[in-house]
Amino acid sequence: MRRTLAVAAFVVIGIASGAARAQEASVAPTINQNFKSADLDVEGWATRFTGESREAFNARHAVVKAMALKTGDAVADVGAGTGIYTRLFAQAVGPSGKVYANDIAPQFLAYIAQNAAKDGLKNVQTVQGGDRATNLPAASVDVVFHSDVYHHFEFPAVMNADIRRALKPNGRLYVLEMEKAGGQSTHVRAPKEAVIAEIEKAGFKLVEQVNVPGLHENYLLHFRKN
Ligand SMILES: C[S@@+](CC[C@H](N)C(=O)[O-])C[C@H]1O[C@@H](n2cnc3c(N)ncnc32)[C@H](O)[C@@H]1O
Repeated sequence: MRRTLAVAAFVVIGIASGAARAQEASVAPTINQNFKSADLDVEGWATRFTGESREAFNARHAVVKAMALKTGDAVADVGAGTGIYTRLFAQAVGPSGKVYANDIAPQFLAYIAQNAAKDGLKNVQTVQGGDRATNLPAASVDVVFHSDVYHHFEFPAVMNADIRRALKPNGRLYVLEMEKAGGQSTHVRAPKEAVIAEIEKAGFKLVEQVNVPGLHENYLLHFRKN
């Protein structure tokens, strides 16, 4: 009976993600304009992403601690930007682990690769993604993480399905996202409840909203692949 239900769920999720791929229109056609520019100012963004008032940067060590990564884990940092989390993940999983730094901007990936080489982090591999796919190998990672990226997905249903595809069975997804409130209420597309509903629809189960010291305007969600 359990096996029948599992197969049925698999088929429904498969059909739903196939439909999502076929039908989804961009929910934010201009949101990644800056990141797609041939003149992307990588150093400028590196300064911005490490800004003193940026929670995603200030709370980074607490976020990584809350994720309880293990030595040898394979982790994907989707929408890695300039790699503030990639570096910490690479240190957390050690030489026997692996970190895929994934982004749509090749200039960010080149910057990350350069820094990883400088820091002697041989477990970092960059993977060029697109608006509709991470291009990560199937069932390759224990953990997918993205920070300040969900509202940058032009095709969230497609990306959620693709992230699910890249995760191993029972894999974990961590979403660090900004509250749709205050100064961010226009820039951020969806409130937290809608983000949870969209991700669960793609075949994930919310485990918890993780309580991370230092996060006030952002939240960290922990999901498990169904
Ligand atoms: C606001 S930045 C956050 C960067 C980094 N995660 C951080 O917190 O410092 C958003 C990033 O998402 C990337 N991005 C947007 N859409 C993406 C997609 N479909 N797949 C992968 N990366 C994407 C952008 O290129 C950009 O680097």
